[in-house]
Amino acid sequence: MSAVIVTGAGAGIGEEIALAAARDGHTVGVLDIDGAAAESVASAIPTGIPLEAAVNDEAQVVAAFDRFESEAGTVADMVVNNAGIVRFGSLAELPVEDWRQTLDVNLTGTFIVSRVAAVRMGRAGGGSIVNLTSINGVVPGPHAGAYGASKAAVALLSAQLAIEFGASGVRVNSVAPGFIDGGMSAPLYEDPATRSARTAAVPLGRLGTPADIAAVVLWLASPAASYVTGQNLVVDGGVASSLLANLPRPASVDGVGADAGAD
Ligand SMILES: NC(=O)c1ccc[n+]([C@@H]2O[C@H](COP(=O)([O-])OP(=O)(O)OC[C@H]3O[C@@H](n4cnc5c(N)ncnc54)[C@H](O)[C@@H]3O)[C@@H](O)[C@H]2O)c1
Repeated sequence: MSAVIVTGAGAGIGEEIALAAARDGHTVGVLDIDGAAAESVASAIPTGIPLEAAVNDEAQVVAAFDRFESEAGTVADMVVNNAGIVRFGSLAELPVEDWRQTLDVNLTGTFIVSRVAAVRMGRAGGGSIVNLTSINGVVPGPHAGAYGASKAAVALLSAQLAIEFGASGVRVNSVAPGFIDGGMSAPLYEDPATRSARTAAVPLGRLGTPADIAAVVLWLASPAASYVTGQNLVVDGGVASSLLANLPRPASVDGVGADAGAD
Protein backbone atom coordinates (compact mmCIF):
# COMPACT_ATOMS: atom_id res chain seq x y z
CA MET A 1 0.00 0.00 0.00
CA SER A 2 1.24 3.46 -0.95
CA ALA A 3 0.48 7.06 -0.23
CA VAL A 4 -0.47 8.81 -3.46
CA ILE A 5 -0.97 12.46 -4.38
CA VAL A 6 -2.85 13.13 -7.62
CA THR A 7 -2.89 16.72 -8.92
CA GLY A 8 -5.91 18.03 -10.81
CA ALA A 9 -7.87 15.24 -9.11
CA GLY A 10 -11.03 17.29 -8.68
CA ALA A 11 -12.34 16.32 -12.13
CA GLY A 12 -11.85 14.26 -15.26
CA ILE A 13 -8.93 11.87 -15.63
CA GLY A 14 -7.38 12.91 -12.31
CA GLU A 15 -10.58 12.10 -10.43
CA GLU A 16 -10.60 8.65 -12.06
CA ILE A 17 -6.93 8.09 -11.13
CA ALA A 18 -7.69 9.09 -7.52
CA LEU A 19 -10.70 6.74 -7.30
CA ALA A 20 -8.76 3.87 -8.90
CA ALA A 21 -5.84 4.42 -6.50
CA ALA A 22 -8.30 4.28 -3.59
CA ARG A 23 -9.73 0.99 -4.91
CA ASP A 24 -6.15 -0.36 -4.91
CA GLY A 25 -6.01 0.46 -1.18
CA HIS A 26 -3.78 3.53 -1.29
CA THR A 27 -4.09 6.66 0.83
CA VAL A 28 -4.98 9.39 -1.67
CA GLY A 29 -4.20 13.10 -1.61
CA VAL A 30 -6.72 14.83 -3.89
CA LEU A 31 -4.96 18.03 -4.94
CA ASP A 32 -6.73 20.64 -7.04
CA ILE A 33 -6.82 24.43 -7.48
CA ASP A 34 -10.58 24.04 -7.06
CA GLY A 35 -10.90 23.38 -3.32
CA ALA A 36 -14.58 22.41 -3.47
CA ALA A 37 -13.89 19.84 -6.18
CA ALA A 38 -10.99 18.40 -4.17
CA GLU A 39 -13.26 18.15 -1.10
CA SER A 40 -15.99 16.46 -3.09
CA VAL A 41 -13.73 13.79 -4.63
CA ALA A 42 -11.87 13.20 -1.36
CA SER A 43 -15.14 12.73 0.50
CA ALA A 44 -15.92 9.74 -1.73
CA ILE A 45 -12.63 8.07 -0.71
CA PRO A 46 -12.30 6.63 2.83
CA THR A 47 -8.57 7.48 2.84
CA GLY A 48 -9.01 10.71 0.83
CA ILE A 49 -7.21 13.89 1.89
CA PRO A 50 -8.34 17.08 0.08
CA LEU A 51 -5.49 19.44 -0.79
CA GLU A 52 -6.35 22.84 -2.26
CA ALA A 53 -3.32 24.17 -4.15
CA ALA A 54 -2.22 25.58 -7.49
CA VAL A 55 0.53 23.37 -8.93
CA ASN A 56 2.27 26.42 -10.40
CA ASP A 57 2.64 28.08 -6.97
CA GLU A 58 5.62 26.60 -5.10
CA ALA A 59 4.57 27.82 -1.64
CA GLN A 60 1.10 26.31 -2.05
CA VAL A 61 2.57 23.01 -3.26
CA VAL A 62 4.99 22.79 -0.31
CA ALA A 63 2.15 23.57 2.12
CA ALA A 64 -0.06 20.90 0.50
CA PHE A 65 2.67 18.24 0.73
CA ASP A 66 3.31 19.21 4.38
CA ARG A 67 -0.38 18.87 5.15
CA PHE A 68 -0.59 15.52 3.36
CA GLU A 69 2.35 14.16 5.35
CA SER A 70 0.91 15.26 8.66
CA GLU A 71 -2.54 13.79 7.88
CA ALA A 72 -1.34 10.59 6.17
CA GLY A 73 1.54 10.09 8.60
CA THR A 74 3.90 9.33 5.73
CA VAL A 75 5.60 10.81 2.67
CA ALA A 76 3.80 10.27 -0.65
CA ASP A 77 5.67 7.53 -2.52
CA MET A 78 3.52 7.90 -5.65
CA VAL A 79 2.74 11.28 -7.23
CA VAL A 80 0.74 11.85 -10.40
CA ASN A 81 1.11 15.21 -12.14
CA ASN A 82 -2.22 15.27 -13.90
CA ALA A 83 -3.32 18.93 -13.55
CA GLY A 84 -3.33 20.60 -16.93
CA ILE A 85 -5.04 23.22 -19.03
CA VAL A 86 -5.48 23.87 -22.74
CA ARG A 87 -5.81 27.23 -24.50
CA PHE A 88 -6.78 26.89 -28.14
CA GLY A 89 -5.66 29.20 -30.92
CA SER A 90 -3.45 29.29 -33.99
CA LEU A 91 0.10 30.40 -33.25
CA ALA A 92 -0.56 33.43 -35.45
CA GLU A 93 -3.27 34.65 -33.09
CA LEU A 94 -2.79 33.03 -29.68
CA PRO A 95 -2.46 35.73 -27.00
CA VAL A 96 0.97 35.57 -25.34
CA GLU A 97 -0.82 35.45 -21.99
CA ASP A 98 -2.53 32.18 -23.04
CA TRP A 99 0.85 30.77 -24.12
CA ARG A 100 2.39 31.75 -20.76
CA GLN A 101 -0.51 30.36 -18.72
CA THR A 102 -0.38 27.03 -20.56
CA LEU A 103 3.37 26.66 -20.02
CA ASP A 104 3.05 27.85 -16.42
CA VAL A 105 0.46 25.27 -15.34
CA ASN A 106 1.46 22.31 -17.53
CA LEU A 107 5.24 22.58 -17.53
CA THR A 108 6.26 24.76 -14.57
CA GLY A 109 3.56 23.20 -12.39
CA THR A 110 4.85 19.71 -13.21
CA PHE A 111 8.41 20.84 -12.47
CA ILE A 112 7.47 22.34 -9.09
CA VAL A 113 5.40 19.37 -7.89
CA SER A 114 7.94 16.83 -9.20
CA ARG A 115 10.83 18.50 -7.45
CA VAL A 116 9.02 18.81 -4.13
CA ALA A 117 7.86 15.18 -4.43
CA ALA A 118 11.14 13.67 -5.64
CA VAL A 119 13.30 15.26 -2.93
CA ARG A 120 10.96 13.99 -0.20
CA MET A 121 10.59 10.53 -1.79
CA GLY A 122 14.34 10.26 -2.21
CA ARG A 123 14.94 11.02 1.47
CA ALA A 124 12.30 8.43 2.43
CA GLY A 125 13.85 5.67 0.30
CA GLY A 126 12.34 6.15 -3.16
CA GLY A 127 9.08 6.29 -5.05
CA SER A 128 7.49 6.93 -8.41
CA ILE A 129 6.20 9.95 -10.31
CA VAL A 130 3.94 9.77 -13.37
CA ASN A 131 3.28 12.90 -15.46
CA LEU A 132 0.39 13.34 -17.88
CA THR A 133 1.53 14.45 -21.33
CA SER A 134 -0.60 14.05 -24.47
CA ILE A 135 -0.69 12.73 -28.00
CA ASN A 136 -0.48 16.49 -28.77
CA GLY A 137 3.03 16.44 -27.36
CA VAL A 138 3.98 13.68 -29.80
CA VAL A 139 2.37 15.07 -32.96
CA PRO A 140 1.27 18.69 -33.54
CA GLY A 141 -2.47 19.41 -33.38
CA PRO A 142 -4.38 22.26 -35.03
CA HIS A 143 -4.92 25.22 -32.65
CA ALA A 144 -3.02 23.44 -29.88
CA GLY A 145 0.50 24.78 -30.35
CA ALA A 146 1.02 26.03 -26.80
CA TYR A 147 -0.50 22.89 -25.30
CA GLY A 148 1.54 20.57 -27.53
CA ALA A 149 4.79 22.41 -26.80
CA SER A 150 4.07 22.23 -23.06
CA LYS A 151 3.37 18.49 -23.21
CA ALA A 152 6.44 17.66 -25.32
CA ALA A 153 8.46 19.58 -22.75
CA VAL A 154 6.86 17.61 -19.90
CA ALA A 155 7.99 14.36 -21.57
CA LEU A 156 11.58 15.64 -21.71
CA LEU A 157 11.33 17.02 -18.17
CA SER A 158 10.20 13.58 -16.99
CA ALA A 159 13.25 11.91 -18.55
CA GLN A 160 15.49 14.61 -17.04
CA LEU A 161 13.98 14.04 -13.58
CA ALA A 162 14.46 10.29 -14.10
CA ILE A 163 18.20 10.64 -14.58
CA GLU A 164 18.63 13.24 -11.82
CA PHE A 165 16.65 11.32 -9.17
CA GLY A 166 17.32 7.71 -10.26
CA ALA A 167 20.13 7.26 -7.75
CA SER A 168 17.77 8.13 -4.89
CA GLY A 169 15.32 5.43 -5.98
CA VAL A 170 12.78 7.72 -7.66
CA ARG A 171 11.36 6.63 -11.03
CA VAL A 172 9.76 9.23 -13.31
CA ASN A 173 7.70 8.42 -16.39
CA SER A 174 4.96 10.04 -18.41
CA VAL A 175 1.74 8.87 -20.04
CA ALA A 176 0.44 10.44 -23.25
CA PRO A 177 -3.33 9.97 -23.61
CA GLY A 178 -4.91 10.08 -27.07
CA PHE A 179 -8.59 10.78 -27.82
CA ILE A 180 -10.19 10.55 -24.37
CA ASP A 181 -13.96 10.62 -23.96
CA GLY A 182 -14.01 12.76 -20.82
CA GLY A 183 -12.34 15.57 -18.92
CA MET A 184 -11.33 18.59 -20.98
CA SER A 185 -12.27 16.76 -24.22
CA ALA A 186 -15.85 15.99 -23.18
CA PRO A 187 -17.30 19.02 -25.05
CA LEU A 188 -15.50 17.94 -28.22
CA TYR A 189 -17.23 14.56 -28.28
CA GLU A 190 -20.70 16.02 -27.72
CA ASP A 191 -20.58 16.82 -31.44
CA PRO A 192 -21.70 13.58 -33.18
CA ALA A 193 -19.70 14.26 -36.38
CA THR A 194 -16.45 14.81 -34.44
CA ARG A 195 -17.17 11.79 -32.31
CA SER A 196 -17.71 9.38 -35.19
CA ALA A 197 -14.84 10.73 -37.33
CA ARG A 198 -12.38 10.50 -34.47
CA THR A 199 -13.62 7.07 -33.39
CA ALA A 200 -13.12 5.84 -36.95
CA ALA A 201 -9.54 7.15 -36.92
CA VAL A 202 -8.55 4.99 -33.93
CA PRO A 203 -7.07 1.61 -34.92
CA LEU A 204 -8.63 0.00 -31.82
CA GLY A 205 -12.01 1.33 -32.99
CA ARG A 206 -13.06 3.31 -29.93
CA LEU A 207 -12.33 6.47 -27.99
CA GLY A 208 -10.26 6.07 -24.83
CA THR A 209 -11.71 6.51 -21.34
CA PRO A 210 -10.33 8.05 -18.15
CA ALA A 211 -10.25 4.47 -16.77
CA ASP A 212 -7.92 3.39 -19.63
CA ILE A 213 -5.49 6.12 -18.56
CA ALA A 214 -5.85 5.50 -14.82
CA ALA A 215 -4.97 1.81 -15.25
CA VAL A 216 -1.72 2.59 -17.09
CA VAL A 217 -0.75 5.42 -14.73
CA LEU A 218 -1.18 3.18 -11.68
CA TRP A 219 0.71 0.30 -13.33
CA LEU A 220 3.60 2.62 -14.22
CA ALA A 221 3.63 4.00 -10.67
CA SER A 222 3.55 0.52 -9.12
CA PRO A 223 6.40 -1.88 -8.30
CA ALA A 224 5.29 -3.94 -11.34
CA ALA A 225 7.11 -1.30 -13.42
CA SER A 226 10.11 -1.10 -11.09
CA TYR A 227 12.70 -1.11 -13.92
CA VAL A 228 10.92 1.47 -16.11
CA THR A 229 12.02 5.08 -15.89
CA GLY A 230 12.34 8.07 -18.23
CA GLN A 231 9.69 6.78 -20.66
CA ASN A 232 6.71 8.51 -22.29
CA LEU A 233 4.09 5.81 -22.84
CA VAL A 234 1.54 6.69 -25.52
CA VAL A 235 -1.93 5.36 -24.61
CA ASP A 236 -4.01 6.20 -27.67
CA GLY A 237 -5.43 3.05 -29.23
CA GLY A 238 -2.85 3.41 -32.01
CA VAL A 239 -3.79 6.88 -33.29
CA ALA A 240 -0.27 8.35 -33.27
CA SER A 241 0.97 5.41 -35.36
CA SER A 242 -1.80 5.51 -37.96
CA LEU A 243 -0.79 8.33 -40.32
CA LEU A 244 -0.19 6.02 -43.29
CA ALA A 245 -3.20 3.81 -42.51
CA ASN A 246 -5.48 6.87 -42.66
CA LEU A 247 -4.19 8.13 -46.03
CA PRO A 248 -5.83 6.94 -49.24
CA ARG A 249 -4.01 4.31 -51.31
CA PRO A 250 -4.48 3.45 -54.98
CA ALA A 251 -7.11 0.75 -55.55
CA SER A 252 -4.37 -1.41 -57.06
CA VAL A 253 -2.66 -1.53 -53.65
CA ASP A 254 -5.78 -2.06 -51.56
CA GLY A 255 -6.83 -4.82 -53.95
CA VAL A 256 -3.72 -6.98 -53.46
CA GLY A 257 -3.98 -9.82 -50.94
CA ALA A 258 -5.20 -9.87 -47.36
CA ASP A 259 -2.40 -7.62 -46.08
CA ALA A 260 -2.65 -5.02 -48.82
CA GLY A 261 -2.71 -2.19 -46.24
CA ALA A 262 1.11 -2.23 -45.98
CA ASP A 263 2.71 0.84 -47.62
N1 LIG B 1 -9.09 14.63 -21.70
C1 LIG B 1 -8.28 14.42 -22.71
O1 LIG B 1 -8.72 14.19 -23.84
C2 LIG B 1 -6.78 14.45 -22.52
C3 LIG B 1 -5.98 13.98 -23.57
C4 LIG B 1 -4.60 14.03 -23.43
C5 LIG B 1 -4.04 14.49 -22.25
N2 LIG B 1 -4.83 14.95 -21.25
C6 LIG B 1 -4.19 15.44 -20.02
O2 LIG B 1 -4.72 14.76 -18.91
C7 LIG B 1 -4.71 15.63 -17.77
C8 LIG B 1 -6.10 15.69 -17.17
O3 LIG B 1 -6.97 16.25 -18.14
P1 LIG B 1 -8.56 16.25 -17.98
O4 LIG B 1 -9.10 16.04 -19.32
O5 LIG B 1 -8.98 15.36 -16.88
O6 LIG B 1 -8.78 17.79 -17.59
P2 LIG B 1 -9.95 18.50 -16.74
O7 LIG B 1 -10.00 19.90 -17.24
O8 LIG B 1 -11.19 17.69 -16.75
O9 LIG B 1 -9.37 18.46 -15.25
C9 LIG B 1 -8.21 19.17 -14.91
C10 LIG B 1 -8.20 19.42 -13.41
O10 LIG B 1 -6.99 20.14 -13.12
C11 LIG B 1 -7.32 21.20 -12.24
N3 LIG B 1 -6.34 22.29 -12.41
C12 LIG B 1 -6.24 23.17 -13.43
N4 LIG B 1 -5.24 24.04 -13.20
C13 LIG B 1 -4.70 23.69 -12.02
C14 LIG B 1 -3.62 24.21 -11.24
N5 LIG B 1 -2.95 25.28 -11.64
N6 LIG B 1 -3.32 23.60 -10.07
C15 LIG B 1 -4.03 22.53 -9.64
N7 LIG B 1 -5.07 22.00 -10.32
C16 LIG B 1 -5.39 22.58 -11.50
C17 LIG B 1 -8.73 21.63 -12.62
O11 LIG B 1 -9.37 22.35 -11.57
C18 LIG B 1 -9.38 20.29 -12.92
O12 LIG B 1 -9.96 19.70 -11.77
C19 LIG B 1 -4.20 16.98 -18.27
O13 LIG B 1 -2.82 17.10 -17.99
C20 LIG B 1 -4.44 16.91 -19.76
O14 LIG B 1 -3.56 17.74 -20.47
C21 LIG B 1 -6.20 14.94 -21.35
